[in-house]
Amino acid sequence: MKIAVTGATGHLGSLIVKSLSEKIDREDIVALVHNKNHAKDLIKEGYEIREIDFQNVSTLNTALQNVDTLIYVASKTYFIFDRIRELENVLSAMKENHVASLVAMSFIADQEDNPFVMSPFYGYLPRRLAGTKLNYAIAKNSLYADPLIPYLPELIERKGLIYPIGDQELSFITLQDSAEAMATMALKPEILQSRKSYLLTQARSYTMPELGKIMTKVTSHEIGYHPVSVEEFGKIYAPEGDGEELASMYAGGAMGYLHDLSDDFAHITEHEPESMEHFLARNYY
Ligand SMILES: NC(=O)c1ccc[n+]([C@@H]2O[C@H](COP(=O)([O-])OP(=O)(O)OC[C@H]3O[C@@H](n4cnc5c(N)ncnc54)[C@H](OP(=O)(O)O)[C@@H]3O)[C@@H](O)[C@H]2O)c1
Repeated sequence: MKIAVTGATGHLGSLIVKSLSEKIDREDIVALVHNKNHAKDLIKEGYEIREIDFQNVSTLNTALQNVDTLIYVASKTYFIFDRIRELENVLSAMKENHVASLVAMSFIADQEDNPFVMSPFYGYLPRRLAGTKLNYAIAKNSLYADPLIPYLPELIERKGLIYPIGDQELSFITLQDSAEAMATMALKPEILQSRKSYLLTQARSYTMPELGKIMTKVTSHEIGYHPVSVEEFGKIYAPEGDGEELASMYAGGAMGYLHDLSDDFAHITEHEPESMEHFLARNYY
């Protein structure tokens, strides 16, 4: 049985490959990579590498030969048409190669009136899959906890979080936990065949003063909550290239769309997700 993973050189995909390798033989894993130069470690570790470009269906047609299950981690883009073309190319190549099963990555911000620029894609994905004959399971991630670690020095300097979400809460999951859940979803037939979405979150969500309190404890620096407006947030992070897009995500957060919780992670993996405090303390130096 061969399981292929897209985005295998990325943050999430590389951890899915690692998690799979702890559960099944390396020969049964295919790492689908975009730029082979980013795959040196995977090659050194002996993984089978196949090159793909999501935007070029013929590369997918070749790469998905003799694959039984695909774990689809989408590329990072804010262009809806690119993302939909990418998904359509993936589904077309799966059909061409009779790949019967799919674990697909999604995101918590999929509500129909969510202003997040990528929410149309996350609304499209489950409806599109429902019209196929595939066995599938959708891993709906909450916010990744991991980017908070490199963000801490800036928060210490600002003396507070600035997310424009008012008194709403945010839900998080670590990349490692998300990866473990997605690898496990590919291996448990009752989940893989369920044609359902699974929301991956930690056990609790946080208001920003609550999150700041944990960060204060972990860093020994005062981190409070000094929210800026959605517009200001977009301007502050515009130099990083995706300020406006992130601002649109937090505008959805202010509507209460980033705070749902579920025990799906524990149901899938049979253990609790890592808590925010444990994760921050383990990674902050
Ligand atoms: N839940 C959250 O809080 C959250 C936060 C950030 C992102 N996300 C989403 O989570 C997903 C994974 O994030 P990540 O941090 O793992 O992203 P990442 O590290 O940027 O990884 C993306 C992977 O996709 C590959 N890729 C890019 N363009 C491709 C193409 N045309 N064809 C095939 N592969 C391509 C990249 O390969 P190369 O590097 O070789 O191009 C890379 O391996 C993304 O869809 C992103 O939008 C979620």
